[in-house]
Amino acid sequence: MSVTGKSKALTVPDIAARKSGIPLTCLTAYTTPVAKLVDPHCDIVLVGDSVGMVLHGLPSTLTVTLEMMILHGKAVRRGLQRALMVVDMPFGSYEESPEQAFRNAACLMAETGCAAVKLEGGENMASTIRFLTARGIPVMAHLGLTPQAINVFGGYRVQGRSEGAARVRNDALMVADAGAFAIVLEKIPEALARQITEDVAIPTIGIGASAACDGQILVVDDMLGLFGDFRPKFVKRYAELGQTAEAAVKVYAQEVRERRFPGSDHVFNDTPALSKE
Ligand code: KIV
Repeated sequence: MSVTGKSKALTVPDIAARKSGIPLTCLTAYTTPVAKLVDPHCDIVLVGDSVGMVLHGLPSTLTVTLEMMILHGKAVRRGLQRALMVVDMPFGSYEESPEQAFRNAACLMAETGCAAVKLEGGENMASTIRFLTARGIPVMAHLGLTPQAINVFGGYRVQGRSEGAARVRNDALMVADAGAFAIVLEKIPEALARQITEDVAIPTIGIGASAACDGQILVVDDMLGLFGDFRPKFVKRYAELGQTAEAAVKVYAQEVRERRFPGSDHVFNDTPALSKE
């Protein structure tokens, strides 16, 4: 807390300094009310491209656009005071060249006020990460199961098993060397996550990568039970808000049909009935 009683906004160096410290708490958010809800409890709030699947009903993250990320990024910005805000670079907005990545990352930062961007990829993205960080754009890397590469992987399978482990570890070393300030490790075995966390000097943030990481991230709708029946092994459901909401909607519909809502508490009875003349 500062002397004004307001929490100080976390910076990229604050996050980097948490390596091997108290684990970093991170969640996604896509709207102002959810950003306000998670901000006091999270170090990082990610406007993930998962927004496409979670809020827009898309079958994957592949058709998420820069415009969608800007719209949701602006909404999240209005809800944050303390957490570091990171915005995902959508598929197709950074892979072509470091220059393309810079143009679109700078646009995301200018439009949303985020402090950093996240992009998927390891060795193949190292030169891009170097290019961005050298020009004032902090980058969070994302390795392991990278959902934008779903067509290459052929499914949402665990990555980094057996011979794949060396590749993921090498990717982690390369992105750390290129200047990434943190790495999301998605859906990799615990032993590999522990090894990478020991090997790199920047925080690792796990999603399906065990408590060996320096922090954890989940899609907020998954952990609140708001994304239907999607129950991957690595998600713990901390609430069942979807069920609670459905039950509430059912009662509302019933009360409307039975004229039990609105009741006397919900109407304006301060004006006498109009006469019929
Ligand atoms: O898009 C997203 O929400 C993410 C997190 C799950 C890490 O990339």
